[in-house]
Amino acid sequence: AWDSLALTPPMGWNSWNFFEAKVSEQVIMDMADAMATNGMKAAGYRYLVIDDHWVAGRDKHNQLVPDPVRFPHGMKYLADYVHGKGLKLGIYSDAAMLTCGGVTGSYNFEEQDARTFAAWGIDFLKYDYCNAPEDVATAFSRYSRMGDALKKCGRPIVYSICEWGQRKPWLWAKAAGGHLWRTTWDSRDVWESHNTNLTGIMEIFRQQEHLAPYAGPGGWNDPDLLMVGLYGKGASSSVDGRFKGCTATEYRTHFALWSMLAAPLMVNMDLKQIAPEVLQLITNRQLIAINQDALGRQATTVLQKNDLQVLLKPLQDKAFAVCVFNRAASGQSFEIDLKKELDLWQPFNVTEVWSGRPVRTLKGTLEAHDCAMYILTPGQK
Ligand code: DGJ
Repeated sequence: AWDSLALTPPMGWNSWNFFEAKVSEQVIMDMADAMATNGMKAAGYRYLVIDDHWVAGRDKHNQLVPDPVRFPHGMKYLADYVHGKGLKLGIYSDAAMLTCGGVTGSYNFEEQDARTFAAWGIDFLKYDYCNAPEDVATAFSRYSRMGDALKKCGRPIVYSICEWGQRKPWLWAKAAGGHLWRTTWDSRDVWESHNTNLTGIMEIFRQQEHLAPYAGPGGWNDPDLLMVGLYGKGASSSVDGRFKGCTATEYRTHFALWSMLAAPLMVNMDLKQIAPEVLQLITNRQLIAINQDALGRQATTVLQKNDLQVLLKPLQDKAFAVCVFNRAASGQSFEIDLKKELDLWQPFNVTEVWSGRPVRTLKGTLEAHDCAMYILTPGQK
């Protein structure tokens, strides 16, 4: 039996990359105000997740204490504020004594911390794996301890497992109670990093293809936060300015690919200053419908020719989403035959996503790193 907390991929915002250790009550309230009014909430975004660096330590009863300077009114106050906007609050901890940022983690305090999170009104927990033993048995056991604690804490809390795909969590994360599990190291705000440790968007994308069978309603592969809109301004995602960010076209393709992958849609730029093209992209109704489709299937690659990669995502009611992606560093034209090349023989009505217009054929020209997106719904000919 599986619970219904994440029947579609979670959508929201996370404080990492842009705010890092500067995350605060004021930041979260500002992001909540922005999300509630800028069209994101209406498009389906719900979670505001406080990542690493919010903890000051434990009090004499061993209860977690937030940093008193950055969270002066405490987490309950902040959760009430966020809930008042119709949104949900997420928080972060680690399956060891210390988090990646070196503040207090939850190991050995799982039940107490889960009860604390529930009492505060927390709706989502991202659980990191720094400073913990590397073997898969220990990881499973530590993630299960928190998973069990969350199930008993009396409040529905989405459980986000973050051990960076190192121990094949797609094989065991659901059994540990997880609703999403990171599949890779941290994404960088760069199209391609050409370095296995510094993971560019393309390196991360290429690690998802064989994982499609593990995604579905209730549990999702998590290829990390969306870099869209950061434009090199996230300290950690740009590795302190070494990566200058992507072009608007590359961010558009990034978001389209993550929509096809049924990935969690978590942005992390400053929502108070989103570029207009980025706000339009992340609230695109058709891309979100593709990502949030109730069938919950992750796209697979069905065709590769030259540097074109075609992905297909089955949708409910016998519909499909198709992404024609130009991986090449130069422009190219394409024409895809639905019957002969994609083995789709029934008649379809085809909508081209960027224009929102009906089209008769899948053809066009794509600049470098661009993609064309189509929705196919069953039709009469
Ligand atoms: C590593 C995780 O993979 C990141 O997403 C972020 O949570 C940092 N730790 C925080 O220290």
